[in-house]
Amino acid sequence: AVTSRFYHEKVIDHYERPRNMGSLPKNDPTVGTGLVGAPACGDVMKLQIKVDDQGKIVDVKFKTFGCGSAIASSSFMTERVRGLHLEEAGQIKNTEIAKELCLPPVKLHCSMLAEDAIKSAIKDYRRKQQSAASAGASAS
Ligand code: FES
Ligand code: FES
Repeated sequence: AVTSRFYHEKVIDHYERPRNMGSLPKNDPTVGTGLVGAPACGDVMKLQIKVDDQGKIVDVKFKTFGCGSAIASSSFMTERVRGLHLEEAGQIKNTEIAKELCLPPVKLHCSMLAEDAIKSAIKDYRRKQQSAASAGASAS
């Protein structure tokens, strides 16, 4: 395939058979949504996590409108964070993804999208939990 001249085999594997593609209900209080864009190329990545009451990621979905490396990075990220606690998931660096997928330097920002997306999803989840907690507090 033409793509094999540009992309490494692990990228192609995730690109052709993306893991965990789809959406989770955005308004579910146990779901955090991260939506981020890369200014350099305009590619957009949405990553959603479902978190249990122990702070563990029990489900994860993504939708990426972007290049093969961005799709592969998000697919890889969903597999990487499933079952992790939020603290661990928030510490995953794009360099780990780039290394795993053998991304060349010009594609580093694609893996950065995945790091930004998981961080943004965690932040959204925490914001929801806080507003739910303060709503509960003011109601009592
Ligand atoms: Fe083949 Fe890295 S994907 S060596
Ligand atoms: Fe921009 Fe890949 S080229 S996300």
